[in-house]
Amino acid sequence: MGDEASGGAAASTGDGGGTPRSVTVGVPREIREGERRVALVPKVVGKLSDRGARVVVEAGAGEGALLPDSAYTEAGAEIGDPWACDVVAVVNPPTPEQIGGLHRDQVLIGFLAPLTSPETVQKLRDAGVVGFAMESIPRISRAQGMDALSSQANVAGYKAVLAAAERSTRFFPMLTTAAGTVKPAQALVLGVGVAGLQALATAKRLGARTTGYDVRPEVADQVRSLGAQWLDLGIDAAGEGGYARELTDDERARQQEELEKAITGFDVVVTTALVPGRTAPRLVSAAAVEGMRPGSVVVDMAGEAGGNCELTEPGETVVRHDVTIVSPLNLPASMPEHASELYARNVTALLELMIDDGELSPDFSDEVLAKACVTREDDEEAQE
Ligand code: NAI
Repeated sequence: MGDEASGGAAASTGDGGGTPRSVTVGVPREIREGERRVALVPKVVGKLSDRGARVVVEAGAGEGALLPDSAYTEAGAEIGDPWACDVVAVVNPPTPEQIGGLHRDQVLIGFLAPLTSPETVQKLRDAGVVGFAMESIPRISRAQGMDALSSQANVAGYKAVLAAAERSTRFFPMLTTAAGTVKPAQALVLGVGVAGLQALATAKRLGARTTGYDVRPEVADQVRSLGAQWLDLGIDAAGEGGYARELTDDERARQQEELEKAITGFDVVVTTALVPGRTAPRLVSAAAVEGMRPGSVVVDMAGEAGGNCELTEPGETVVRHDVTIVSPLNLPASMPEHASELYARNVTALLELMIDDGELSPDFSDEVLAKACVTREDDEEAQE
């Protein structure tokens, strides 16, 4: 967190002489390996300026998303030290070194992994940082514009299906040609949340016959509305807040057995099943993979949480029993332009709730801000 630019960037008190204070919002360059997204894009700078905020971007922050510094400055942002700003907007959780450079009462917004990385949250709390986790924004209608889990899951679901099509030895669509007719691929999506719905829609657009499965029965209608079949295994594991709960040992055994039989008939299986804060449920056993036709593909989107397939090697593509098992990590980073644009809109919508007239004044009686805030001094209510 260099100091060299902080003269301009850190100065959040305007140019002195009684000029009203204008809040500064910093945009660092993401340093996670393979990350190409950026927290704010030039398109949203005007919106923040309208609120009286100054946007300060680290040199090269947008490079991965093909957004040059000049695009930011033309939109009204400054190039400088983002870490010295009142608010720092990131995509990935900060490293301990980055947290070390933050100061008391500074606001940090981003994916902060409150459920999977409690040590990050603890460090932010120790540093007195006011942390807003994009994962913790309540999934209520009013906050849909801020729902970064959904915006990024949409990107991931789309790219997962493209990865499957790329690896498949067979066509997705039905083809009628002079050389004969090719049957459409059969694609199964396991876990139909936001990513799963997008995967079903994308596979359908490519011409596959689609089927969806989830442990939340209310998903059946959404699956059918996308022209897909619903695979009913008779297990209801709807949990709290619209999420799934973990299955009991009994349910898990029954599910594995039923899925083993069902999976055999599919050319493509995309898995997205997650339970917040837990290891990903095992849905596709080694035996199920063995039962698939050679040339079939499994794309396991849950690699970061351990994987839904027993044979998954997170981050790798492996071939087992002539079936290709792909476990891409951080899929949204592979489509950095639109993923950044959607994420930037989510972050901006959250910022608009707390910045007005150049002033940063989060109102913690607002349910969205109260729930999104995971570290806040003197408040036992801040979520973990
Ligand atoms: P997620 O990423 O936590 O999980 C993905 C899917 O895996 C879920 O559909 C879950 O039911 C399923 N799953 C978990 N364990 C499973 C198992 N053992 N077998 C099969 N499937 C399993 O889910 P996501 O996409 O974050 O969505 C969570 C909820 O949030 C959903 O109810 C969704 O409709 C809701 N939501 C609400 C929004 C709103 O604004 N009201 C916006 C976006 C999502």
